[in-house]
Amino acid sequence: MHVLLTAGPTYEPLDPVRFLGNRSTGKMGYALAEAFAAQGAEVTLVSGPSQLPDPASPRIRTVRVETAAEMFAAAAEVAPRADVWVFAAAVADYRPAQIAPEKIKKTGDTMTLELVKNVDIAATLGLSKRPEQFAVGFALETTNELAHAQGKLHRKKFDLIVLNSLRDAGAGFGHDTNKVTVLDTAGQIVNFELQSKADVARGLVRLILDRLP
Ligand code: CTP
Ligand code: CA
Repeated sequence: MHVLLTAGPTYEPLDPVRFLGNRSTGKMGYALAEAFAAQGAEVTLVSGPSQLPDPASPRIRTVRVETAAEMFAAAAEVAPRADVWVFAAAVADYRPAQIAPEKIKKTGDTMTLELVKNVDIAATLGLSKRPEQFAVGFALETTNELAHAQGKLHRKKFDLIVLNSLRDAGAGFGHDTNKVTVLDTAGQIVNFELQSKADVARGLVRLILDRLP
């Protein structure tokens, strides 16, 4: 079995020294890569900039990228031959419309950046998903969590979506623990306990492997 995993943030350059990014550390995605490899899967881990070292398992090939466009290109190359797609990356929704060739100098008291939408990696790959391929998305919502997650599940052709809780102390960005809720296309909801990201990853992998066609 071959698993394609996206993980970490993306960095969208503004000029040679600055970028737009986010607080994703990659911990959840890297933990998933290890958990899939521990079950015997071959994993391609397409990772945005993360401080974490490449996972040591010989079953995991780590491909380092910076931008959403690079992440898309790397994921699209692997997607056709992967049985399972897991989109754990926190992809920047927008990027600067222009990358200045030189460092932008400080001028007025205010500054406005023009941003343009990035490719939606999960949704775009979803268009070419074959019936036997299995896709898992992630979502982090602060309002109408279940409804928004369900909307993404259908819109992006996911078979499962993992909803990250921000309500619980110890869950989310940078923490070693996480609390998630998993939704499927049949409307079934599975609540996970607050636990280490490694345990969440093992639980998710078990749930995914149980549901493979
Ligand atoms: N995703 C992606 N490419 C993007 C944006 C998101 O592959 N450009 C994936 C994420 O990796 C995640 C899922 O889509 O698995 C949902 O991401 P999220 O940011 O919650 O959804 P968006 O569609 O970007 O909606 P919004 O940020 O407005 O809530
Ligand atoms: Ca987003």
